[in-house]
Amino acid sequence: MIIKSIKLRNIRTYEEEEVRLPEGIILFEGGIGAGKSTLLLAIEFALFGLGNEKGTTLLSIGKNSGSVELTLETGGKEVKVHRGLERGRRAGGSKAGSLHQGLLVPAGVKQSDCWIEVDGVRTSYSPSEMKEQVLKILNYNEPVDPKAKSVIFRYAVYTPQEEMKEILSQPPDLRLQTIRKALRIEEYKIAMENAKAIASDLRKEAEFIRKGTERLAEIQEEIRGIEERLPDREEGLQRLKAEAEMIEGEIGKLKERRGSLQAELLARAKDAEGIDRIESDLQRTRKEIADLEKKIETGKKRLEDLQARIKAIGPIIEPAMSEDEVEGMLEEAKARLSGYDKELGRLKADLENVKTLVMKGYCPTCNRAIDGAEYAAHLQEAEAKYEKVRMERQKTAEEIRDLERARKEIAEYAMKKGQLKGLEETASEVEDGIYDAQHRLGEAKEREKELSERKARAEGAAEAYKAVKRECEECEAQITKKEKERDGILSRKAALEKEIAVEKERLADLKAEAERLEGERRRAERLGLHSEWLVKYLAAALERIELTVMNAVRREFEEEFSKWFSYLVEDPSKGVRIDEDFTPLVTQDSYEQDVGNLSGGERTSLALAYRLALNRVVQRNSRIGADLLILDEPTDGFSKDQIGKMGDLLRELGLRQAVIVSHERELEGAVDHIFRIQKEGGRSKVQAGSS
Ligand SMILES: Nc1ncnc2c1ncn2[C@@H]1O[C@H](COP(=O)(O)OP(=O)(O)O)[C@@H](O)[C@H]1O
Ligand SMILES: [Mg+2]
Repeated sequence: MIIKSIKLRNIRTYEEEEVRLPEGIILFEGGIGAGKSTLLLAIEFALFGLGNEKGTTLLSIGKNSGSVELTLETGGKEVKVHRGLERGRRAGGSKAGSLHQGLLVPAGVKQSDCWIEVDGVRTSYSPSEMKEQVLKILNYNEPVDPKAKSVIFRYAVYTPQEEMKEILSQPPDLRLQTIRKALRIEEYKIAMENAKAIASDLRKEAEFIRKGTERLAEIQEEIRGIEERLPDREEGLQRLKAEAEMIEGEIGKLKERRGSLQAELLARAKDAEGIDRIESDLQRTRKEIADLEKKIETGKKRLEDLQARIKAIGPIIEPAMSEDEVEGMLEEAKARLSGYDKELGRLKADLENVKTLVMKGYCPTCNRAIDGAEYAAHLQEAEAKYEKVRMERQKTAEEIRDLERARKEIAEYAMKKGQLKGLEETASEVEDGIYDAQHRLGEAKEREKELSERKARAEGAAEAYKAVKRECEECEAQITKKEKERDGILSRKAALEKEIAVEKERLADLKAEAERLEGERRRAERLGLHSEWLVKYLAAALERIELTVMNAVRREFEEEFSKWFSYLVEDPSKGVRIDEDFTPLVTQDSYEQDVGNLSGGERTSLALAYRLALNRVVQRNSRIGADLLILDEPTDGFSKDQIGKMGDLLRELGLRQAVIVSHERELEGAVDHIFRIQKEGGRSKVQAGSS
């Protein structure tokens, strides 16, 4: 790193100032209190912040804010680093200090507006982030400690004025510690201690882990137990599976059988169906048969009876005359008879008359006596005549009797004929009835036969139905039994499976645990080995390395130290070396000389030589390169001669940039560039001068 420019605003005695720094040896020269050291402090502040210093040491009294902007070149890049300072507000809002017992107490000052610009790209950071970034940019490999500035910077680049000689008077152990820290030798010790601490931790952890693996034997025992048990259980499970499968097969067959039985049952039920109706049909048909048979029988009897009656009527002969003819003849005969009767009556009366006359012997009419003889002849004649008519009448009466008989016979014939006709008609009807009944009987009998057959069939089916039903029920019962058996096996199987699963899970867990514990045991072993390695090899090696490095560094340091000392003090009788804890020792003719007895110039030389040696060794050890060195009043108490040597000495260092702050005007001749610092009216001003 080299510094290109520094810009100050309200820093101590500076209001606004910008200084551009060239390469080479630069001198900031000015009177006491001119503001020289302020520039250097500002550089360190811009880079690393305040450390454990207060902001009030830098911010100008009476100002509320200030800043430092540093432009540097590092690793071939230009980097701008900016930090601000701001006076915090106090209660009451005033930024200025408050009065305390009549004195103005400065208000607290905080860092603000921190940023870094690399290749023109600006990034803002918090103060601590900023320090981390700067360490990174400068390639300073050191831990970030917010309470301190950079150790490497302090030893390799810049030593504040008051610390220049301090190193000589420091207590040895503190000095050694400082040097060890600066040379990073402390890190070996820290590493060694860490290694030992880690080894102890590892040993403890290994022991802890090993304790944790004590259960391993027990677990392995349990694993063996389960592994021995498992095959038997698996076998048992296979057996149960086979059994269950077999029963399942049987159940399947039974179910198949049940299916066919149920189908048969259905068919049988269909066949047996309607048996009651068949029965009632059959009863009705049978009654119908009986009725018909009775009817036929009655019909036959009736027919027989009718035939007997027909027979009883016998053959009938048709009369020779018709009824009309007979009637006509009868009427004529009756009329004749009535004529005869009338004639007879008249004849009789005549006869009577004659008889009376004969008896009286006289004629009543004429009262004349009658002739006896005449009257006898008259009476005879009259009697003959009467007889003749009476005969005739008798003959007619007989004729009427015959005719009436004939008429009766005709009526009788008509009556019989009518009777016969009626009987014959009835017989025919009865015969028809019988014929019809016989026909129906035939049908009924046929139906009866058919119904009987159906009934027999249905009864057979019902019988078969019952048998099949029984079989079906038996089958069902068997299925239930088998299923129960199977369920028993299945639940045993399930239980066994669960048991096996639990065992297996347990086994897996145990194996995993065993594996883990095995791993843990190996880990414990490894940790033990690591612990041993850390103590026996690493810590020992670190110790050796530390010693070697320390010796090398001391040798290197001593070389540099005596080189720069003899450069400054040209007294061959005087020499310098360092002891174990880097305490500088001066020898005068091989005698040790007390540092307190050295002259002021010698003391400054000793301090500067020590500083330069430290500087170079740190630069080399931290590999940051030897490009910049800043020295504040390095020549205090030097003789003119010694001051004159400073130029050569600085050039001998081979730096790109050396910044020397001094009040010694004599140094002007030894440097490449001069800046004069003057304070006017309390304000510092920097002016470039010529050498
Ligand atoms: N906070 C501050 N504000 C203003 N001036 C300060 C502050 N702190 C210190 N000073 C003064 O700044 C001046 C410059 O100091 P310094 O740079 O150390 O001088 P020198 O040039 O001798 O190295 C001194 O007079 C000092 O008292
Ligand atoms: Mg000073």
